[in-house]
Amino acid sequence: MIYPIVKYGNPVLETPAETVTEFDTPELHKLIADMFESMYSAHGLGLAAPQIGISRRVAVIDKSDRQNPAEKIVLINPEIVRVEGKQTSEEGCLSVPGFREQVPRPKRVTIRAQNAKGEWFETTGEELLARAFLHETDHLNGRLYITHVSMLKRDLIRRKVRKLQKAGEWG
Ligand code: NI
Repeated sequence: MIYPIVKYGNPVLETPAETVTEFDTPELHKLIADMFESMYSAHGLGLAAPQIGISRRVAVIDKSDRQNPAEKIVLINPEIVRVEGKQTSEEGCLSVPGFREQVPRPKRVTIRAQNAKGEWFETTGEELLARAFLHETDHLNGRLYITHVSMLKRDLIRRKVRKLQKAGEWG
């Protein structure tokens, strides 16, 4: 099932999501499948459950845009273990469509998470993948990437979004 993407302004995006405690259930497998489907449909490379209105600590990532099944990553209850280096490049979010900003982030990120069976694993990503790990974990903590840009830019985005909301052009 393809869910509509929840947009900035909806409180679910700024609420820390709930820890997943039951694994390998049909509901969890369905949620993960629906999240991949919804992400591909929206042309994103990552999606966190709050972005489809479900406040649970589940995120999916596929930077190959479904071209390489080996690049599909499921992160449940993820925790950042270690960050190294620096990178700055453009970042966007399906929940803040139409905006992209330069965001400074660490260059290499090690994350610890559970898979759909509840097994813990650790993995390290660099560049775009490091950015995705941080961006999605932020989502699960109720934080949007625009909190990492200057207050001036953030206010500008807020004002533009408010205008779009008034015009009924912001879901
Ligand atoms: Ni996002």
